[in-house]
Amino acid sequence: MAFMTNEWTGTEHFKVKDFDHVEFYVGNAKQVVHFYRSAFGFQPHAYCGPETGVRDHVSYVLKQNNLFFVFTTPLSSAHPATEWLSKHGDGVCDIAIQVECDVEAHDSCVSRGAVSVMPPTVTEDESGKFGKSSIQTYGDTIHSFIWREEYKGLWAPGFGPLSLPDVPSEDPGLIRTDHIVGNVEWDKMDVWSEFYERVFGFTTFVRFDDTDISTQYSALKSIVVRSKNWKVMMPINEPAKGKKKSQIEEYLDFNEGPGAQHIAIQTGDIVKTISALRANGVDFLEVPDTYYESLSERVGIIDEDLEKLKELKILVDRDEEGYLLQLFTKPLEDRPTLFIEIIQRKGSRGFGQGNFQALFESIELEQEKRGNL
Ligand code: FE2
Repeated sequence: MAFMTNEWTGTEHFKVKDFDHVEFYVGNAKQVVHFYRSAFGFQPHAYCGPETGVRDHVSYVLKQNNLFFVFTTPLSSAHPATEWLSKHGDGVCDIAIQVECDVEAHDSCVSRGAVSVMPPTVTEDESGKFGKSSIQTYGDTIHSFIWREEYKGLWAPGFGPLSLPDVPSEDPGLIRTDHIVGNVEWDKMDVWSEFYERVFGFTTFVRFDDTDISTQYSALKSIVVRSKNWKVMMPINEPAKGKKKSQIEEYLDFNEGPGAQHIAIQTGDIVKTISALRANGVDFLEVPDTYYESLSERVGIIDEDLEKLKELKILVDRDEEGYLLQLFTKPLEDRPTLFIEIIQRKGSRGFGQGNFQALFESIELEQEKRGNL
């Protein structure tokens, strides 16, 4: 049964400000950066590597308004990212959260059972002090806690400016991370939501199960945890029994374990955003034309032109608070793992539950083409 509440029942053990950035391990950051610039409209922001005195890896920071993606590639087989990449392929290694104090966040999480990956570490240069610490979450994914209040530089100590030749790209106007979803193993969803409640002090505010989300073949269960200020929202999915293999199981097989399934990015004008992304060559999930036949009955009056939404294949969902518009890319790697969601919220704090049926049919079509149903 679906469940949704706006009530806060968590404990604010430490102050969460917002998502800070998402870091990816990738096989060849130089080329990946070109893709995220040309397809998704990111701007070069900062860089570390041999030229800035870092010997064992490179990291490129790309920016778009308040959205920061960091792409890291190891420069030798001895770097731990090499083993990570050989297991998972390109993907999200760190969902970094900006906090008021990285020491407090780390130590307080560890005191409630979190596994430390990096103890609180302050680095410093002429632009000020920068704090970072990290803990483990599902699979080989970590959360870094970032303290940058007293850092006035571009990114962090050790990073220099990133200057690259211009790349033609239409500006999609992406604003910030809305939510980041994790896929976990069978029967592990409640374990992880309990982890975020107990260790982070977050609240569970949405839950849906296989009676809410299932098609003929695919099924999943999902729960969403959030920070008190609503800035950090993290849905967690696990597979559920269907006639054939769940899309979550396909992910777990190809990612060789749990990991980040999708990053949802907010826009203030989804028609402009999807037009730009399509012009830039981004490949989105197909939406059947039949989806639009009953749309106005389902969602009532909305500000956007329905014909335009149909042309761009944008999905709409409504709940008691308002509505949202969204669309999902196909997986961004050859392994069917990570993808991106574009979302515009108009009052709704939901996740598009009403679209899951239409969407799953589309996902299953793709899964079938890969022979994984
Ligand atoms: Fe989502």
